Amino acid sequence: MERSIRNPKRDASSRQGKTGWYDYYAGFSPGFVADTLNYLDPHPKSIVLDPWNGSGTTTNVAQEAGFSVVGFDINPAMIILSKAKTLDPSVANSIGPLCDELIEKADHFRMQHPVWSDPLTTWLVKDGALYIRKLEWAIQKLLVDNKGYRNGGIRTVNHISSLASFFYIGLFRAVRLILAEFRSSNPTWIKQPKTEAEKVTIKKRHLHQLFVQNISEMALSLSSSQYLQNGLDVRLEVASSEAQPLDKQSIDIVISSPPYCTRIDYAMATCIELAILGYTMEKLNEKMRIEMIGTPKIHRKTPEPTIEWGPTCLGFLKDVREHGSRASKTYYYKTYTQYFDSVFASMGEIDRVLKDNGKCVLVVQDSYYKDVHNDLPSIFVEMGHHYNWSVDSRFVFKGSSLVAINKRASRHQQSKKRTEEVLIFTK
Ligand SMILES: C[S@@+](CC[C@H](N)C(=O)[O-])C[C@H]1O[C@@H](n2cnc3c(N)ncnc32)[C@H](O)[C@@H]1O
Repeated sequence: MERSIRNPKRDASSRQGKTGWYDYYAGFSPGFVADTLNYLDPHPKSIVLDPWNGSGTTTNVAQEAGFSVVGFDINPAMIILSKAKTLDPSVANSIGPLCDELIEKADHFRMQHPVWSDPLTTWLVKDGALYIRKLEWAIQKLLVDNKGYRNGGIRTVNHISSLASFFYIGLFRAVRLILAEFRSSNPTWIKQPKTEAEKVTIKKRHLHQLFVQNISEMALSLSSSQYLQNGLDVRLEVASSEAQPLDKQSIDIVISSPPYCTRIDYAMATCIELAILGYTMEKLNEKMRIEMIGTPKIHRKTPEPTIEWGPTCLGFLKDVREHGSRASKTYYYKTYTQYFDSVFASMGEIDRVLKDNGKCVLVVQDSYYKDVHNDLPSIFVEMGHHYNWSVDSRFVFKGSSLVAINKRASRHQQSKKRTEEVLIFTK
């Protein structure tokens, strides 16, 4: 019997248990990762990598299935989320008392308004931002490092424990609820108040209640989650897919979904979580929004397309460049070129770290630029050929895409059905 793989799109079941801790619109379904592992039937000692790990679906499911895992993402908020999911269920009963202690600590901490302008004041009045900062400080003091407060720099995030990450996610959830009015119909965009008067005021008690409530909900689902096998290597770090901190030929399996090629702003989508970690809007704009693959921001230097990207990619770029509509040959051409440049470099990195005969499974979705079809699955297949990978199987799923929920997308675009493909390569 032909073995099949469930649709990678998240469904209602993907919002239960640990996957429901944080609704990452870009995440794929745990069922898809479980089916893919069954389909590949890897050796039990295999190491599974996701270089675009997002909410950690691949690493979480593979770890539950008994594999050692490595996950990278350029977004520290996502690394914290994937780390939280590695918390052992046996800790669930200790969560309540720890939560009480955190509140107690935050309550008695005599922190003044930070000398640095707190990024949370983008949405909140100063006192509200300070209450949240005190809770974050308490998490750090009790569970990260009691020497002094450091806002969530990459070093801190890479070394943070799954327990501290769990409480960070509780705080992310509480603050998301407090700032719910700034969400828009586009899940990747968070609005900002234009005046001081529009900023949110919160009561300390209300924040603490929300924190306790969210932590209790998470602890409940943690207690019924699967126990994790001891002795597995689990490495979750902030790193770019274009420079993966791994030895060559060290990975057996890659299961991943590269960033979409529809100018999705992954950094802005998580700007509230990043503000909790101390990222200012300036830092977001100057660094993370630029470095993320698929960003709508233009790099200082546009790369030159090369023949190695394959005929479908070059044909698409030519059509965009020659398209008569506004900014096609400037802004749009540049965003696509930088996307393909980064993706090609990332494929090169996957090729370097994957063992010979290793498997690489990528979930890729096509899209349209105006009336020009961006056949991303074929572009990835051709890029894979460049690295001498063969395609074992392609699973095709038809459905709608993020474009359909973006009000600004043209009617022409909205009427197009997207195709999501699961590409299974062998190196
Ligand atoms: C489609 S999402 C992956 C979602 C993931 N499969 C899940 O289940 O949550 C792509 C991810 O790539 C990350 N990303 C963007 N540019 C990156 C880069 N240069 N290096 C590593 N990760 C990057 C984004 O932060 C985003 O989380």
